Amino acid sequence: MVKLFNQLPPAGTPITGSELFRIAKASLSGSADDIFERAIKAHTAACSCFLLSSGRASLAIALQALAQLYDGKKNEVVIPAYTCFTVPASAAKSHLKMRIVDIDPMTLDFDFRKLSEIDLSRTAAIVGCNLLGILDNWSKLRSIASANGAFLIDDAAQALGARSEFGIAGTMGDVGIFSFGRGKNLSLYSGGAIITSNERISSVISHMMAKIPRPSIFSELATLAKIVMYSVLINPRVYWLPASIPFLGLGKTIYDPGFDIGGLGVVRRHAGRILLDKLDSINMRRRENARKLAIIANEGDRFRIPGYCEPNIPAYLRLPVLCATKAIRDNAIRELQRNGISASSMYPSTVRQISGIEEHLASDEVDYPGAQTVVDRMLVLPTHPMLADSDIQKIIKCLRNIN
Ligand SMILES: Cc1ncc(COP(=O)(O)O)c(C=O)c1O
Repeated sequence: MVKLFNQLPPAGTPITGSELFRIAKASLSGSADDIFERAIKAHTAACSCFLLSSGRASLAIALQALAQLYDGKKNEVVIPAYTCFTVPASAAKSHLKMRIVDIDPMTLDFDFRKLSEIDLSRTAAIVGCNLLGILDNWSKLRSIASANGAFLIDDAAQALGARSEFGIAGTMGDVGIFSFGRGKNLSLYSGGAIITSNERISSVISHMMAKIPRPSIFSELATLAKIVMYSVLINPRVYWLPASIPFLGLGKTIYDPGFDIGGLGVVRRHAGRILLDKLDSINMRRRENARKLAIIANEGDRFRIPGYCEPNIPAYLRLPVLCATKAIRDNAIRELQRNGISASSMYPSTVRQISGIEEHLASDEVDYPGAQTVVDRMLVLPTHPMLADSDIQKIIKCLRNIN
Protein backbone atom coordinates (compact mmCIF):
# COMPACT_ATOMS: atom_id res chain seq x y z
CA MET A 1 0.00 0.00 0.00
CA VAL A 2 1.23 3.53 -0.72
CA LYS A 3 1.84 5.46 2.50
CA LEU A 4 0.78 9.00 1.70
CA PHE A 5 1.15 10.34 5.20
CA ASN A 6 4.51 8.91 6.07
CA GLN A 7 7.42 10.21 4.05
CA LEU A 8 11.08 9.90 4.92
CA PRO A 9 12.95 13.17 4.36
CA PRO A 10 15.88 12.88 1.93
CA ALA A 11 18.42 14.14 4.49
CA GLY A 12 18.60 15.95 7.81
CA THR A 13 19.87 16.11 11.37
CA PRO A 14 17.33 15.03 14.01
CA ILE A 15 17.14 17.48 16.94
CA THR A 16 15.62 16.23 20.20
CA GLY A 17 13.35 18.15 22.60
CA SER A 18 16.09 18.29 25.23
CA GLU A 19 18.58 19.68 22.68
CA LEU A 20 16.02 22.34 21.70
CA PHE A 21 15.60 23.25 25.35
CA ARG A 22 19.38 23.58 25.82
CA ILE A 23 19.68 25.67 22.63
CA ALA A 24 16.87 28.02 23.73
CA LYS A 25 18.22 28.33 27.28
CA ALA A 26 21.79 29.04 26.14
CA SER A 27 20.59 31.54 23.50
CA LEU A 28 18.40 33.46 25.93
CA SER A 29 21.24 33.61 28.46
CA GLY A 30 23.06 36.01 26.09
CA SER A 31 26.38 36.06 24.30
CA ALA A 32 27.82 33.04 22.53
CA ASP A 33 31.40 34.39 22.63
CA ASP A 34 33.44 32.14 20.40
CA ILE A 35 32.09 28.81 21.63
CA PHE A 36 31.24 27.41 18.20
CA GLU A 37 34.44 28.67 16.56
CA ARG A 38 36.45 26.99 19.34
CA ALA A 39 34.52 23.73 18.91
CA ILE A 40 35.14 23.72 15.14
CA LYS A 41 38.83 24.51 15.64
CA ALA A 42 39.08 21.65 18.14
CA HIS A 43 37.35 19.32 15.67
CA THR A 44 39.55 20.28 12.71
CA ALA A 45 42.79 21.50 14.40
CA ALA A 46 42.53 24.63 12.21
CA CYS A 47 44.06 27.85 13.56
CA SER A 48 41.24 30.18 12.46
CA CYS A 49 37.49 29.80 12.04
CA PHE A 50 34.99 32.39 10.74
CA LEU A 51 31.23 31.88 10.97
CA LEU A 52 28.85 33.08 8.27
CA SER A 53 25.18 32.99 7.32
CA SER A 54 25.57 30.13 4.80
CA GLY A 55 28.00 27.82 3.06
CA ARG A 56 27.75 29.88 -0.14
CA ALA A 57 28.59 33.08 1.80
CA SER A 58 31.61 31.23 3.27
CA LEU A 59 32.75 30.06 -0.17
CA ALA A 60 32.32 33.55 -1.66
CA ILE A 61 34.36 35.17 1.14
CA ALA A 62 37.06 32.50 0.82
CA LEU A 63 37.26 33.03 -2.97
CA GLN A 64 37.37 36.82 -2.62
CA ALA A 65 40.16 36.57 -0.04
CA LEU A 66 42.25 34.29 -2.26
CA ALA A 67 41.70 36.49 -5.32
CA GLN A 68 42.77 39.50 -3.23
CA LEU A 69 46.02 37.74 -2.34
CA TYR A 70 46.77 37.44 -6.08
CA ASP A 71 46.08 41.16 -6.44
CA GLY A 72 44.11 40.75 -9.67
CA LYS A 73 46.88 38.72 -11.38
CA LYS A 74 44.79 35.55 -11.29
CA ASN A 75 41.04 35.77 -11.80
CA GLU A 76 39.90 32.21 -12.49
CA VAL A 77 38.54 29.41 -10.31
CA VAL A 78 38.36 25.72 -11.19
CA ILE A 79 35.15 23.92 -10.21
CA PRO A 80 33.72 20.48 -11.02
CA ALA A 81 31.19 20.11 -13.86
CA TYR A 82 28.70 18.47 -11.51
CA THR A 83 28.17 20.10 -8.14
CA CYS A 84 25.72 22.16 -6.12
CA PHE A 85 24.68 25.29 -8.06
CA THR A 86 25.70 27.43 -5.07
CA VAL A 87 29.35 26.73 -5.99
CA PRO A 88 29.20 28.52 -9.38
CA ALA A 89 26.94 31.14 -7.74
CA SER A 90 29.70 31.89 -5.19
CA ALA A 91 32.28 32.11 -7.98
CA ALA A 92 30.07 34.51 -9.96
CA LYS A 93 29.43 36.62 -6.85
CA SER A 94 33.21 36.85 -6.37
CA HIS A 95 33.69 38.06 -9.99
CA LEU A 96 35.93 35.12 -10.82
CA LYS A 97 35.81 33.37 -14.20
CA MET A 98 35.00 29.69 -13.92
CA ARG A 99 36.97 26.90 -15.55
CA ILE A 100 34.72 23.86 -15.42
CA VAL A 101 36.37 20.42 -15.29
CA ASP A 102 34.55 17.14 -15.92
CA ILE A 103 34.06 14.57 -13.16
CA ASP A 104 34.51 10.82 -12.90
CA PRO A 105 31.02 9.28 -12.34
CA MET A 106 32.45 6.51 -10.14
CA THR A 107 34.15 8.86 -7.66
CA LEU A 108 32.18 12.11 -8.24
CA ASP A 109 35.65 13.72 -7.92
CA PHE A 110 37.42 15.59 -10.75
CA ASP A 111 38.43 13.61 -13.82
CA PHE A 112 42.15 14.04 -13.11
CA ARG A 113 43.21 13.44 -16.71
CA LYS A 114 41.03 16.38 -17.76
CA LEU A 115 42.22 18.51 -14.85
CA SER A 116 45.86 17.92 -15.82
CA GLU A 117 45.13 19.03 -19.41
CA ILE A 118 43.64 22.47 -18.73
CA ASP A 119 45.44 25.82 -18.56
CA LEU A 120 45.79 26.72 -14.88
CA SER A 121 48.07 29.73 -15.34
CA ARG A 122 45.33 32.20 -14.31
CA THR A 123 43.77 29.97 -11.64
CA ALA A 124 43.57 31.58 -8.20
CA ALA A 125 41.84 28.57 -6.62
CA ILE A 126 40.70 25.01 -7.28
CA VAL A 127 37.54 24.00 -5.40
CA GLY A 128 37.14 20.32 -4.48
CA CYS A 129 33.54 19.56 -3.44
CA ASN A 130 33.67 16.15 -1.66
CA LEU A 131 30.25 15.41 -3.09
CA LEU A 132 27.85 13.54 -0.76
CA GLY A 133 30.66 13.11 1.77
CA ILE A 134 32.94 11.13 -0.60
CA LEU A 135 36.27 12.84 -0.03
CA ASP A 136 38.16 13.94 -3.14
CA ASN A 137 41.69 12.75 -3.86
CA TRP A 138 43.41 15.56 -1.97
CA SER A 139 46.88 14.22 -2.56
CA LYS A 140 46.45 14.59 -6.35
CA LEU A 141 44.70 17.94 -5.95
CA ARG A 142 47.50 19.26 -3.76
CA SER A 143 50.21 18.35 -6.25
CA ILE A 144 48.30 19.90 -9.19
CA ALA A 145 47.55 23.08 -7.22
CA SER A 146 51.11 23.53 -5.99
CA ALA A 147 52.61 22.84 -9.44
CA ASN A 148 50.46 25.68 -10.79
CA GLY A 149 50.69 28.13 -7.89
CA ALA A 150 46.95 27.93 -7.17
CA PHE A 151 45.22 27.85 -3.79
CA LEU A 152 43.05 24.86 -2.87
CA ILE A 153 39.60 25.15 -1.29
CA ASP A 154 38.36 22.06 0.54
CA ASP A 155 34.61 22.57 0.19
CA ALA A 156 33.27 20.25 2.88
CA ALA A 157 29.70 21.61 2.76
CA GLN A 158 28.52 18.00 2.32
CA ALA A 159 31.25 16.30 4.34
CA LEU A 160 31.49 17.72 7.87
CA GLY A 161 32.96 15.06 10.16
CA ALA A 162 34.13 12.80 7.31
CA ARG A 163 37.67 11.43 7.26
CA SER A 164 39.79 9.61 4.71
CA GLU A 165 43.41 8.51 4.36
CA PHE A 166 44.16 12.13 3.33
CA GLY A 167 42.81 13.69 6.56
CA ILE A 168 39.71 15.38 7.97
CA ALA A 169 37.18 16.96 5.59
CA GLY A 170 37.64 20.73 5.34
CA THR A 171 41.30 20.67 6.38
CA MET A 172 42.95 19.48 3.20
CA GLY A 173 43.21 22.71 1.27
CA ASP A 174 44.54 26.15 2.09
CA VAL A 175 40.99 27.01 3.13
CA GLY A 176 38.05 24.81 4.13
CA ILE A 177 34.37 25.60 4.14
CA PHE A 178 31.36 24.00 5.82
CA SER A 179 27.60 24.40 5.43
CA PHE A 180 25.03 24.06 8.21
CA GLY A 181 22.08 24.28 5.84
CA ARG A 182 18.99 22.06 5.87
CA GLY A 183 19.88 18.52 4.99
CA LYS A 184 23.56 18.82 5.92
CA ASN A 185 25.59 16.65 8.33
CA LEU A 186 24.98 19.22 11.04
CA SER A 187 21.95 21.37 10.30
CA LEU A 188 21.30 24.73 11.96
CA TYR A 189 18.65 25.39 9.28
CA SER A 190 21.27 27.66 7.66
CA GLY A 191 24.84 28.73 8.33
CA GLY A 192 28.40 28.22 7.23
CA ALA A 193 32.03 28.37 8.33
CA ILE A 194 35.47 28.99 6.88
CA ILE A 195 38.57 27.42 8.42
CA THR A 196 42.22 28.03 7.60
CA SER A 197 45.64 27.63 9.16
CA ASN A 198 47.27 30.00 6.68
CA GLU A 199 48.05 33.29 8.45
CA ARG A 200 47.95 35.47 5.32
CA ILE A 201 44.55 34.11 4.31
CA SER A 202 43.26 34.40 7.86
CA SER A 203 44.33 38.02 8.10
CA VAL A 204 42.59 39.00 4.82
CA ILE A 205 39.38 37.19 5.91
CA SER A 206 39.51 38.86 9.37
CA HIS A 207 39.47 42.26 7.67
CA MET A 208 36.56 41.25 5.46
CA MET A 209 34.61 39.84 8.44
CA ALA A 210 34.82 43.15 10.29
CA LYS A 211 32.44 44.65 7.70
CA ILE A 212 29.91 41.81 7.73
CA PRO A 213 26.70 42.49 9.70
CA ARG A 214 25.47 40.16 12.47
CA PRO A 215 21.74 39.26 12.64
CA SER A 216 19.31 41.51 14.53
CA ILE A 217 17.44 40.35 17.64
CA PHE A 218 14.31 39.79 15.50
CA SER A 219 16.14 37.56 13.10
CA GLU A 220 17.64 35.67 16.08
CA LEU A 221 14.12 34.95 17.35
CA ALA A 222 13.04 33.90 13.84
CA THR A 223 16.05 31.57 13.68
CA LEU A 224 15.06 29.93 16.96
CA ALA A 225 11.53 29.44 15.61
CA LYS A 226 12.92 27.97 12.36
CA ILE A 227 15.13 25.49 14.23
CA VAL A 228 12.14 24.36 16.33
CA MET A 229 9.98 24.06 13.19
CA TYR A 230 12.73 22.17 11.35
CA SER A 231 13.09 19.68 14.23
CA VAL A 232 9.35 18.92 14.01
CA LEU A 233 8.92 18.88 10.22
CA ILE A 234 11.83 16.54 9.57
CA ASN A 235 9.92 13.76 11.35
CA PRO A 236 8.75 11.16 8.75
CA ARG A 237 5.17 11.33 10.11
CA VAL A 238 5.09 15.08 9.40
CA TYR A 239 7.55 15.56 6.52
CA TRP A 240 4.93 14.73 3.84
CA LEU A 241 3.27 18.06 4.71
CA PRO A 242 6.08 20.53 3.76
CA ALA A 243 7.15 18.15 0.97
CA SER A 244 3.73 18.50 -0.65
CA ILE A 245 3.75 22.34 -0.65
CA PRO A 246 5.39 23.30 -3.97
CA PHE A 247 6.21 26.95 -3.15
CA LEU A 248 8.48 25.86 -0.27
CA GLY A 249 10.73 24.50 -3.03
CA LEU A 250 12.19 21.73 -0.84
CA GLY A 251 15.01 19.97 -2.64
CA LYS A 252 15.07 22.54 -5.48
CA THR A 253 18.48 23.55 -6.83
CA ILE A 254 18.64 27.22 -7.73
CA TYR A 255 21.50 29.24 -9.24
CA ASP A 256 21.41 32.72 -7.69
CA PRO A 257 24.61 34.77 -7.34
CA GLY A 258 22.56 37.54 -5.64
CA PHE A 259 22.59 35.88 -2.20
CA ASP A 260 23.26 37.84 1.02
CA ILE A 261 26.44 37.56 3.05
CA GLY A 262 25.95 37.89 6.80
CA GLY A 263 27.40 36.68 10.08
CA LEU A 264 26.15 33.75 12.17
CA GLY A 265 23.99 34.77 15.12
CA VAL A 266 23.96 33.69 18.75
CA VAL A 267 21.20 31.06 18.41
CA ARG A 268 22.96 29.13 15.65
CA ARG A 269 26.32 29.39 17.45
CA HIS A 270 24.83 27.73 20.55
CA ALA A 271 22.93 25.20 18.45
CA GLY A 272 26.09 24.36 16.50
CA ARG A 273 28.11 23.88 19.67
CA ILE A 274 25.46 21.59 21.17
CA LEU A 275 24.78 19.52 18.02
CA LEU A 276 28.47 19.10 17.13
CA ASP A 277 28.72 16.64 20.05
CA LYS A 278 26.62 14.08 18.19
CA LEU A 279 28.11 14.57 14.72
CA ASP A 280 30.33 11.46 14.95
CA SER A 281 27.49 9.19 16.03
CA ILE A 282 25.22 10.56 13.27
CA ASN A 283 27.93 9.99 10.66
CA MET A 284 28.46 6.47 11.98
CA ARG A 285 24.76 5.74 11.43
CA ARG A 286 25.05 7.14 7.89
CA ARG A 287 27.92 4.74 7.16
CA GLU A 288 26.02 1.76 8.62
CA ASN A 289 22.89 2.59 6.61
CA ALA A 290 25.00 3.02 3.47
CA ARG A 291 26.61 -0.40 4.02
CA LYS A 292 23.20 -2.07 4.32
CA LEU A 293 21.80 -0.32 1.23
CA ALA A 294 24.92 -0.95 -0.85
CA ILE A 295 24.01 -4.65 -1.03
CA ILE A 296 22.03 -3.85 -4.19
CA ALA A 297 25.29 -3.16 -6.02
CA ASN A 298 26.30 -6.82 -5.60
CA GLU A 299 23.22 -8.08 -7.42
CA GLY A 300 24.00 -7.75 -11.11
CA ASP A 301 25.21 -4.72 -13.00
CA ARG A 302 22.18 -2.41 -12.85
CA PHE A 303 23.36 -0.41 -9.82
CA ARG A 304 26.79 0.94 -8.82
CA ILE A 305 27.66 2.99 -5.73
CA PRO A 306 30.14 5.82 -6.44
CA GLY A 307 32.91 6.13 -3.84
CA TYR A 308 31.94 2.93 -2.00
CA CYS A 309 34.96 1.29 -0.43
CA GLU A 310 34.98 -1.35 2.32
CA PRO A 311 35.95 -1.02 5.14
CA ASN A 312 36.37 2.79 4.86
CA ILE A 313 32.85 3.61 3.80
CA PRO A 314 32.34 7.37 3.29
CA ALA A 315 30.00 9.21 5.68
CA TYR A 316 27.49 9.49 2.83
CA LEU A 317 25.21 12.52 3.27
CA ARG A 318 22.96 10.60 0.87
CA LEU A 319 23.82 7.38 -0.93
CA PRO A 320 24.49 7.85 -4.65
CA VAL A 321 23.32 5.01 -6.91
CA LEU A 322 24.48 5.08 -10.50
CA CYS A 323 21.94 3.14 -12.59
CA ALA A 324 22.72 1.27 -15.82
CA THR A 325 20.27 3.44 -17.82
CA LYS A 326 18.26 6.63 -17.39
CA ALA A 327 15.02 4.59 -17.69
CA ILE A 328 16.03 2.39 -14.73
CA ARG A 329 16.92 5.51 -12.72
CA ASP A 330 13.63 7.24 -13.49
CA ASN A 331 11.56 4.10 -12.74
CA ALA A 332 13.43 3.57 -9.48
CA ILE A 333 12.78 7.14 -8.29
CA ARG A 334 9.09 6.87 -9.18
CA GLU A 335 8.68 3.54 -7.38
CA LEU A 336 10.62 4.62 -4.28
CA GLN A 337 8.62 7.85 -4.00
CA ARG A 338 5.38 5.90 -4.36
CA ASN A 339 6.52 3.98 -1.29
CA GLY A 340 7.17 7.07 0.84
CA ILE A 341 10.96 7.20 0.31
CA SER A 342 12.36 10.59 -0.75
CA ALA A 343 14.67 9.30 -3.47
CA SER A 344 15.55 11.77 -6.19
CA SER A 345 18.06 12.68 -8.82
CA MET A 346 20.43 15.28 -7.45
CA TYR A 347 21.27 18.36 -9.55
CA PRO A 348 19.12 18.86 -12.64
CA SER A 349 21.95 19.68 -15.07
CA THR A 350 25.69 20.03 -15.42
CA VAL A 351 27.16 23.34 -14.25
CA ARG A 352 27.76 24.30 -17.90
CA GLN A 353 24.03 24.00 -18.67
CA ILE A 354 22.94 26.48 -15.97
CA SER A 355 21.18 29.34 -17.65
CA GLY A 356 22.99 32.66 -17.24
CA ILE A 357 26.38 31.14 -16.51
CA GLU A 358 28.03 31.83 -19.91
CA GLU A 359 29.27 35.33 -19.03
CA HIS A 360 31.22 33.88 -16.08
CA LEU A 361 33.07 31.16 -17.97
CA ALA A 362 36.78 31.12 -18.79
CA SER A 363 36.47 28.64 -21.69
CA ASP A 364 33.87 27.78 -24.33
CA GLU A 365 33.91 24.02 -23.76
CA VAL A 366 30.38 22.57 -23.59
CA ASP A 367 30.77 18.78 -23.35
CA TYR A 368 31.13 17.20 -19.93
CA PRO A 369 30.26 13.52 -20.50
CA GLY A 370 31.11 12.36 -16.96
CA ALA A 371 28.86 15.00 -15.41
CA GLN A 372 26.13 14.26 -18.00
CA THR A 373 26.19 10.56 -17.05
CA VAL A 374 25.57 11.51 -13.43
CA VAL A 375 22.77 13.95 -14.37
CA ASP A 376 21.07 11.22 -16.42
CA ARG A 377 21.67 8.08 -14.38
CA MET A 378 22.26 8.86 -10.70
CA LEU A 379 19.71 8.81 -7.91
CA VAL A 380 20.32 9.49 -4.23
CA LEU A 381 18.89 7.63 -1.25
CA PRO A 382 18.51 8.75 2.37
CA THR A 383 21.15 7.55 4.86
CA HIS A 384 20.20 9.69 7.88
CA PRO A 385 19.57 8.24 11.36
CA MET A 386 15.76 8.33 10.95
CA LEU A 387 16.07 5.56 8.35
CA ALA A 388 14.76 2.39 10.03
CA ASP A 389 15.79 -1.15 9.03
CA SER A 390 12.27 -1.62 7.63
CA ASP A 391 12.86 1.39 5.32
CA ILE A 392 16.15 -0.11 4.17
CA GLN A 393 14.43 -3.41 3.37
CA LYS A 394 11.69 -1.51 1.51
CA ILE A 395 14.27 0.40 -0.57
CA ILE A 396 16.17 -2.78 -1.44
CA LYS A 397 12.94 -4.57 -2.40
CA CYS A 398 11.87 -1.64 -4.60
CA LEU A 399 15.22 -1.56 -6.40
CA ARG A 400 15.25 -5.34 -6.92
CA ASN A 401 11.88 -5.10 -8.64
CA ILE A 402 12.88 -2.33 -11.06
CA ASN A 403 13.36 -3.28 -14.69
C1 LIG B 1 29.41 21.52 -2.37
C2 LIG B 1 28.64 22.66 -1.77
N1 LIG B 1 29.26 23.83 -1.57
C3 LIG B 1 28.62 24.88 -1.03
C4 LIG B 1 27.30 24.80 -0.65
C5 LIG B 1 26.59 26.00 -0.09
O1 LIG B 1 26.04 25.79 1.18
P1 LIG B 1 24.72 26.58 1.66
O2 LIG B 1 23.54 25.88 1.11
O3 LIG B 1 24.80 26.54 3.17
O4 LIG B 1 24.84 27.96 1.15
C6 LIG B 1 26.61 23.60 -0.85
C7 LIG B 1 25.18 23.48 -0.48
O5 LIG B 1 24.56 22.48 -0.60
C8 LIG B 1 27.30 22.50 -1.42
O6 LIG B 1 26.69 21.34 -1.63
